[in-house]
Amino acid sequence: MTETLKKLITILKDGEFHSGEQLGKTLGVTRSAVWKLIKQLSTWDLEIESVTNKGYRIPGGLTLLSKEKILSFLSFDQQARLEKIEILDNIPSTNDYLLHSLQARPNKNYACFAEKQTHGKGRRGRTWIAPFAKNIYLSVLWRFPQDPSALSGLSLAIAVSIIETLKHYTTTQELGIKWPNDVLYKNHKLAGILVELAGESNDNCSAVIGVGLNVDMPNASHQYITQPWADLQNMTQTIVDRNEVAGLLLSHLVNTLILFQNQGFHAFTEKWQTLDLTLGKPISLTNSASEKLQGIGRGINEQGHFLLETPCGIKSFSSGEVSIRLSN
Ligand code: BTN
Repeated sequence: MTETLKKLITILKDGEFHSGEQLGKTLGVTRSAVWKLIKQLSTWDLEIESVTNKGYRIPGGLTLLSKEKILSFLSFDQQARLEKIEILDNIPSTNDYLLHSLQARPNKNYACFAEKQTHGKGRRGRTWIAPFAKNIYLSVLWRFPQDPSALSGLSLAIAVSIIETLKHYTTTQELGIKWPNDVLYKNHKLAGILVELAGESNDNCSAVIGVGLNVDMPNASHQYITQPWADLQNMTQTIVDRNEVAGLLLSHLVNTLILFQNQGFHAFTEKWQTLDLTLGKPISLTNSASEKLQGIGRGINEQGHFLLETPCGIKSFSSGEVSIRLSN
């Protein structure tokens, strides 16, 4: 993002009208250059109102992520576990950012948030829609003193920590997890997790844990989302402070990663089971060979693998896509 564009966002984030002339003067550009910048922002799904004789405004204003505010939700111990926390404006993907810079980063843990992703990655090759300054896009690079086989169930544990974050905002029982790690509210996706394994050797490995959490999905983005979705603001019917969500989420994630590193998935199995939305439900499961199987959800085993009751008995799956079949 150019410095001029950054300045423009900083001015418009107050939600007030600013005339093209005034903006041009402050930014040191012509009015038509201001108009071009505004057009560019509109392509980011930012709602910008333009009214003759008043100028431009972002209705409701914008809250940008602030490192200081996010850190205020982390204890000193939690902060000490992270070598660096970065807030980036606009990048392809926070997961890719950490994966690509792995060599340059010494053997420590890192966290990075972005205001916008142009190529946000979802599970199974999907795209994660990531409009500017509306939701949370977070990746954490974590070093484990174990080999990759010890990471079985990690993404399920992360889903538990997202629900713990969301419990600060709601007591609803309609919040839960669809195996392996989709966080759903009323069967609509509120958050997703993408864990990617990075460098590894005999006795240690690194994982990049990516979390996308919908906070206030703008109207303009709806058309691109291909599955039923929810966001925190429509769930709580209140305005939610993204810095608070980001801080609470990172704090829960760090706790989860420390516990997981010390005790593995075992420490999360019970909690996960209480949040299981598929337990006892009629399920369609697409396995890694793209075959569709039907049965009844029977929870998970101690590695976090899905258990499906079929006419041939209970089968376990380490990967796949699960959907709950609606009964007639
Ligand atoms: C899913 O499909 O459910 C996983 C979605 C994960 C999205 C997050 S957003 C932050 C991080 N960076 C990415 O490119 N993807 C993850």
